[in-house]
Amino acid sequence: MTYSHTAKKIVIAVDGFSSCGKSTFAKLVAARLGYIFIDTGAMYRAVTLYALENGAISNGILNEEALIGMLDDIDISFRFNPERGASDIYVNGVWVEGKIRTIEVSNLVSSVSAVAEVRKRLVALQQRMGRDKGVVMDGRDIGTVVFPNAELKIFMTADPEVRAERRYRELQAKGEQVSMEEIVENIRQRDHLDQTRAISPLRKADDAIVLDNGGMTLEEEMAWFDEIFAQRIV
Ligand code: DC
Repeated sequence: MTYSHTAKKIVIAVDGFSSCGKSTFAKLVAARLGYIFIDTGAMYRAVTLYALENGAISNGILNEEALIGMLDDIDISFRFNPERGASDIYVNGVWVEGKIRTIEVSNLVSSVSAVAEVRKRLVALQQRMGRDKGVVMDGRDIGTVVFPNAELKIFMTADPEVRAERRYRELQAKGEQVSMEEIVENIRQRDHLDQTRAISPLRKADDAIVLDNGGMTLEEEMAWFDEIFAQRIV
């Protein structure tokens, strides 16, 4: 399906659990609509990587005060990468896209994203990025906190085993040596931390539409989206 690009631009919030395929879904939706895709998880990951590389995390322990002291030095930006059909993330002008999805960063990102000052700054940046609408933003709190008035909110979910399998294949493809057990454990832990953190926990916005994509192909997900978009927006 193609859409008229002259139609009124809206904000589409895509929230949900880790490794549900949110980014893949959001990226395809953005391409369909001629919108900008913004992966907010990449922003929390980039801050985590910076904390790791600059001594605010050592031996797996986060020093919150040290991290907060560094936040003024972290400038996050995105640049479109035509090969990926999505924007790569940069910290202080340095390309970090290739370093933010390791299991090490995945294991630490939940504690970094639970820090109030980190969230405050990244949420403000995300709100600026979506100010002119025409964005598909994926994350955990987009429909609840970042854009509570988003015109379309989608909440994605799938069984942990299905999600672990996907993450396993992704990491294998990148040559990272991790066991399935390690991934299942990481996903369970992140689900728990994301849902129970004090600030902006992961929860479905009351007006979000649920997409359980466990048994769905990407084509089916897009057909589902077309139908929702036509019903709700067009
Ligand atoms: O989507 P992802 O797995 O790349 O996100 C990485 C982590 O960042 C995830 O464990 C929770 C956190 N996150 C968040 O707290 N709020 C967001 N809007 C996006 C991600």
